[in-house]
Amino acid sequence: MSDSKIIDGKAFAETLRRDIAAQVAAMKQAHGHVPGLAVVLVGEDSASKVYVGSKAKQTKEVGMTSFEHRLPATTGQTELLALIERLNRDPAVNGILVQLPLPKQIDPQAVIDAIDPDKDVDGFHVVNAGRLATGGAGLVPCTPLGSMMLIKSRLGDLSGKRAVVVGRSNIVGKPMASLLLAESCTVTIAHSKTRDLPGECARADILVAAVGRPQMIRGDWVKPGAVVIDVGINRVEGPDGKGRLVGDVHYEEALAKAGAITPVPGGVGPMTIACLLQNTLTATCRQRGIKLAA
Ligand SMILES: NC(=O)c1ccc[n+]([C@@H]2O[C@H](COP(=O)([O-])OP(=O)(O)OC[C@H]3O[C@@H](n4cnc5c(N)ncnc54)[C@H](OP(=O)(O)O)[C@@H]3O)[C@@H](O)[C@H]2O)c1
Repeated sequence: MSDSKIIDGKAFAETLRRDIAAQVAAMKQAHGHVPGLAVVLVGEDSASKVYVGSKAKQTKEVGMTSFEHRLPATTGQTELLALIERLNRDPAVNGILVQLPLPKQIDPQAVIDAIDPDKDVDGFHVVNAGRLATGGAGLVPCTPLGSMMLIKSRLGDLSGKRAVVVGRSNIVGKPMASLLLAESCTVTIAHSKTRDLPGECARADILVAAVGRPQMIRGDWVKPGAVVIDVGINRVEGPDGKGRLVGDVHYEEALAKAGAITPVPGGVGPMTIACLLQNTLTATCRQRGIKLAA
């Protein structure tokens, strides 16, 4: 446990990736299988290309097999669904991720629905959302999973803590709230229609911001000593006219009040791909009946 107020997600993610690499090596030796992650990119979106490149690189770095499928922007839905069906059946592929957004001729929900829930390492399939909501063993979306690891690294037992999650998206806010509830927190989900958002936030022992509005959460919204997790990634223009990344929390103000806080960049962001690899390892173990090392 660190004494610093700043939660170093980059360092935490590095440690997690090292641990995953050790487990991959042990699996290869004991079971002769290497986990495989298939990443599908349709089109030429430049941010998506960067994400897919980083995912493939980190997959290989932990010793897993990376299967990259780069399809043209003109790819039809039937063709993409046929690829997913092949990946669902391929025993070398333990995890499948389709990079979003997809070109407009493809319905993203139809694509997510087509992925085998046991290979759905993004945790977006409705079966995995249902498993999370009902306490079953599913695959949890990577960003909330990583945020939860950071929270527990500071607080340990969360039972009885008051948690406020600002944002109710299916990929961050709602799964985050489910994870906190499963740890016996008293959870409030706030959103754009919430009355007195500063007052709601000020009651939180754990405050998670997943809004997409630069520096919206101010220092005087933060309860003294609270753990603040800033999921937001927003590009704004700095005083020098250059672009820089900021979170949904006003970092300098919140740092003065919080017991611990994630910076942006270097907080939640690096945990997301590390948790994708964790999910691929978890999926592989379940598919092959291998017990995960603690
Ligand atoms: N670190 C990572 O790896 C990672 C991963 C995913 C996302 N992100 C970042 O996290 C942020 C949220 O992402 P998302 O996909 O969850 O966004 P999203 O789908 O746009 O959802 C945003 C949520 O914020 C709520 N909201 C908007 N304005 C608000 C306001 N003024 N007051 C209170 N609530 C407000 C919305 O409420 P309504 O539902 O009422 O509209 C919605 O529930 C973004 O900055 C995104 O870039 C980071």
